[in-house]
This record gives sequence, structure tokens and C-alpha cells, in this order.
Amino acid sequence: TRCPQASGLETLATLVSSVEETPDPIPTTVQGTIPTWINGSFLRNGPAKFEFGEDRYVHWFDGMAMMHRFHIKDGNVTYSSRFLRSDSYVKNTEKNRIVMSEFGTLALPDPCKNIFARFFSRFQMPEATDNASVNFVKYKGDYYVSTETNYMRRINPQSLETKEKVDWTKFVAVNSATAHPHYDQDGATYNMGNSYGKQGFFYNIVRVPPPDETAAKTDCADLSGAEVICSIPAAEPRKPSYYHSFVMSENYIVFVEQPIKLDLLKFMLYRIQGKSFHKVMTWEPKYNTIFHLVNRHTGKVGQEQTMRYQCAPMFTLHQINAYEDNGFLVMDMCCGDDGNAVGEFTLENIRRKSGEEMDKFYNDLCRNLPRRYVLPLNVDEQTPLDQNLISLNNYTATAVKTKPKEVVLTHEELHDDTLLQYGGLEFPQINYTQYNGRPYRYFYSCGFGHVFSDSLLKMDVHTKELKVWRFPGLYPSEPVFVASPGATEEDDGVVMSVIITPRKEKSTFLLVLDAKTFIELGRAEVPVNIPYGTHGVFNEMG
Ligand SMILES: *[C@@H]1O[C@H](CO)[C@@H](O)[C@H](O)[C@H]1NC(C)=O
Ligand SMILES: *[C@@H]1O[C@H](CO)[C@@H](O)[C@H](O)[C@H]1NC(C)=O
Ligand SMILES: *[C@@H]1O[C@H](CO)[C@@H](O)[C@H](O)[C@H]1NC(C)=O
Ligand SMILES: *[C@@H]1O[C@H](CO)[C@@H](O)[C@H](O)[C@H]1NC(C)=O
Ligand SMILES: *[C@@H]1O[C@H](CO)[C@@H](O)[C@H](O)[C@H]1NC(C)=O
Ligand SMILES: [Fe+2]
Repeated sequence: TRCPQASGLETLATLVSSVEETPDPIPTTVQGTIPTWINGSFLRNGPAKFEFGEDRYVHWFDGMAMMHRFHIKDGNVTYSSRFLRSDSYVKNTEKNRIVMSEFGTLALPDPCKNIFARFFSRFQMPEATDNASVNFVKYKGDYYVSTETNYMRRINPQSLETKEKVDWTKFVAVNSATAHPHYDQDGATYNMGNSYGKQGFFYNIVRVPPPDETAAKTDCADLSGAEVICSIPAAEPRKPSYYHSFVMSENYIVFVEQPIKLDLLKFMLYRIQGKSFHKVMTWEPKYNTIFHLVNRHTGKVGQEQTMRYQCAPMFTLHQINAYEDNGFLVMDMCCGDDGNAVGEFTLENIRRKSGEEMDKFYNDLCRNLPRRYVLPLNVDEQTPLDQNLISLNNYTATAVKTKPKEVVLTHEELHDDTLLQYGGLEFPQINYTQYNGRPYRYFYSCGFGHVFSDSLLKMDVHTKELKVWRFPGLYPSEPVFVASPGATEEDDGVVMSVIITPRKEKSTFLLVLDAKTFIELGRAEVPVNIPYGTHGVFNEMG
């Protein structure tokens, strides 16, 4: 699939300019109508300060994390924002320069902040950072901001105050955790993290139990009871794969081991020599993509002992959803074919002038597209070779047992050609509480007709029909779905997104679309600049 080339793209420089915080909520101007049943706050995260004194960051995702809050009540909206008081923010502010520290523990850079990022070319992590600019996550009822290191920061979602730093390694034997955990209906949180030792390199699935209702309520971070429910050994012990998220259905967790490889030996060597980590992470398409299937109730690695599911090399950051259907596991993800076409998201590149220079940067980037893979859950020695095992006629993906212990998958494109004109998509979101891990029909996402997303898309996965919100010069954030009270249909509710523009100062607005029709219901204009951000959530608790 070829996406059309873009030309005459505008500069995005002002979308990656530093801004001041707005700690006290300010009013906004509402146009149209914000439904009065929306009660809570839309929280967003992202880098918002790119220099201290004379010192400048090189990469966009190095910017200091800022939390934004749009509080919505009775059809009115207020806005506030605060920088995360991470150790690096506090230290840098004190010294008014960028304080670099010694090399620390193994931590992976986060491609999420630069969606088609460059986890290949640069890997200079001075130390594991708590400058968590990627997402808001919830454990045992508490909110945290997270990136992909062993640290998270607990925060107060109402005041945006920064609370204590939490170290995963103090609670469970992992040295990292993704910024995209999954939540169970019962309140448990699942995440994945790495561990590395004499036995080798493992990808671990961690379960943090639901809040303990009987325990006395304390104002402390609490991950107690967290346990590793399954450890998956890296297929190549010296070359573990990068991953950004994982899939969870009602009974399974699927971990995709993709051919974005970290060269551990090189990494160790560079660390000893004190060199920069150039090219320790590379796209190595000679390795296939392996799907590890785990039963999340027993922690047993499903067919893995006997059966290996794999597909052609591809890379993926964000999973859309997964569900079980009559003995098959259906999983939908945003994928790209060429892990090399992942741009170098330096501030210099993002700030390129409009026209040719910007066009070249964009046209060299890989466009991520939604795909569906279908895994047969019951494959054994008796399963015949060389025939498509997918017997349900509602899927065109294939799964073929090619060897006694191997199943090879091909995907179904979860879109038609219409999507290509919007430049592919990323930042998928669904009606999570009700449909994660279950058969579903819709997902919402951002289209990437520019280096930053320039449209909002609603995909009907049954018909592959798209609904689109797109206006020149407007750059929307990840859309978040909020159901209306008493909703009976999957898309009964609204989709919210924060819209920014490089064309005019202080022209940010919170957009509220009818999730069914994708027609604008209202917007709340905020008289401040907000830089392009990463992920967000809706907090019903105010
Ligand atoms: C901020 O966090 C990102 C990764 O989340 C890291 O690449 C960057 O170096 C950090 N910056 C500082 C100053 O710690
Ligand atoms: C919402 O805004 C309207 C119009 O500005 C105002 O009359 C009303 O008191 C506000 N409600 C709240 C709860 O602030
Ligand atoms: C797929 O088709 C089968 C029958 O062939 C049906 O039972 C099932 O509900 C369908 N799944 C979805 C998600 O539509
Ligand atoms: C999802 O949709 C259902 C209706 O099917 C609704 O009751 C539920 O609250 C929605 N979930 C979320 C997260 O909005
Ligand atoms: C709005 O949400 C808050 C926090 O959950 C709750 O206390 C309040 O009663 C809600 N208000 C309305 C009008 O539903
Ligand atoms: Fe992400």
C-alpha cells in the first residue's frame, strides 16, 4: 500500500515551543454546546519545555512533561496545566541549565512522544528518567504519569500536583513498564516490563491487584501485591525486542516480539567505554515477528511450548483491541512494514521550514496502518499442515501450520484505500471499559497527513468506513471516547480532542464531537498555547 506524497506542508515550529504553566484553572469560551452530562476532566500529557537557560534539548521527547487538565462541568470548561516536578525538572530549574547525569540503568527511549520515532539512531539515556511525559495510568485507584523506565510519578489528577516517585523494582522484579497498561473489569491493572539477569532476558507480564477496599486509605503510592504472572524469554537472548504496548483479550495476553532489536552486547560495551549508544537499537527484518500467547488467568504460555505463531517482519507501537471469537483470537494493531522509515524526531527536524524541507521529512516517514491478525487457539500435533486454519468466514487473515511447531500468519488490512489519503493512522482509542478484550465495532484515531496528526478518524471495523474531522492548519490530539449516561450502543457518547494550530497564537480549543456522527457539538477556546502532546485520558472523578 502506497500513501500519496504530500507537498507544501506547513511548518510546525510553534507546536514545539516552550510554554508557561497555568496552575490555577482559567475559564474558556464555549462555542456551540458542550453536553451538560459530561462531568469530569480530560487529562493530557506531553513535552512542553525545550530549554533551560542557554541549553537546548535536541529531541522533541526530551522536553519536560506538562500535564494539562480540561475540567468539564455543567457545559462549562476550565483549563489548567502544570509541569511535572520530576527530578530532572527540579534540578534543571535550580541550575537554569540542563544537568546531565551519569549513565544509569537500562532504560528504553520512548517512541511514543515522537510517534514514528527514532528508537534506532539515538539511545542516550543519561539515567532512567522520571520525566514521565507519555501517559496517565492508574494502579489501585491512583493516577500516575509514566514513560517507559522503572520510574513513575504519582500525581493528583485534580490539582496536577506531583507526588512521590515510584520505582517498579521496589515492588516486583522488573526494571521497566510500558506507558500502556490494560485494565480488567475488576480493577486489576496489567502491564509488561523487562528483567535481565544470569538466566537471560525476559519480557514479564505483571498484574497489580485492584484497590484493597478494606485497607485504610493512605496518601501513598501503593503497588503492593504486584506480581509477575508470566516471564517470556527473549527469542534471541542477546537481542531483545523493543515494545510499546501489548494486547489483552478476556482470557489471553498477546505479546508481539517485533524485529526492532536492542543489541545487548553493544549496549554493555558502549556503557563500559562511556560512549554514546549509537545504533544499539536497530530494525532487523531478518527476524520474523513472533506472537507470544499467554493465558492471563493461569500465566501459562499457551501453545508457545509447542507452537510458535509468527508473521513477516513488521513494527507496531499501539494495539487497537483484541477479542476471542469461536476458538480464534482476533487482534487489531497499527503497523508499519519498514522499521527504518521511522523519522529522526529532533526539534530541528520538526521545526523545518514549510515547503520542500518539511515535505521531505514527512514523505520519508513510514505510514502506520491498521491490521488484523487472527490466531487459531486450538492447534496441536493433529492439526493438518499447509492449509488455512481460519474457518470463520468473517475474517480474511490467514493462519497456516507450516511445520509441526509453527503457525504462519498473514493479516487482513483493517481499512480500505480511503484511509491512504489521510496518511495512515495512529493513537487508536476505543470505548475501553465496555469493549476492551471483546468484539467491537469502532475505533477512533489520529490521521497523519503531516508529521503531527492533522485529522481525527472514526473507523467502522465491520465496513471499513471512515468518518473524518479535518481542517487545514488544525492539529488534533489523540481522541478520547466518553460514553453518555445510560448508553446502549458502543458509540453513544462523545469524542474529545485538543486542537492546536501553528497559524495563530493562543488558538487552542477542546473539541467535542458526537461520537456517532463525528459532527462537532461544541468547543471550548483556551487563550493559551499548548504544544503537541502524547496521550490523554478522561477522569470521571473530577
Ligand atoms: C526525559 O524523558 C525522556 C524519556 O522519557 C528522556 O529521553 C530524556 O532524556 C529525559 N530528559 C531528562 C532531562 O531527563
Ligand atoms: C457556566 O457558564 C454560564 C455562562 O457563563 C454561567 O452562567 C454558569 O454559572 C456556569 N456554571 C458553572 C457551574 O460554573
Ligand atoms: C464471525 O462469524 C461467526 C459465524 O461464522 C459468528 O458466530 C461470529 O459472531 C462472527 N464474529 C464477529 C465478531 O462478528
Ligand atoms: C462503552 O459503551 C457502553 C454502552 O455500550 C457504556 O455503557 C460504557 O460506559 C462505555 N464505556 C466507556 C469507557 O465510555
Ligand atoms: C460530577 O462528578 C463528581 C465526581 O465524581 C460528583 O461528585 C458529582 O456529583 C458529579 N456531578 C454531577 C452533576 O453528576
Ligand atoms: Fe504510546
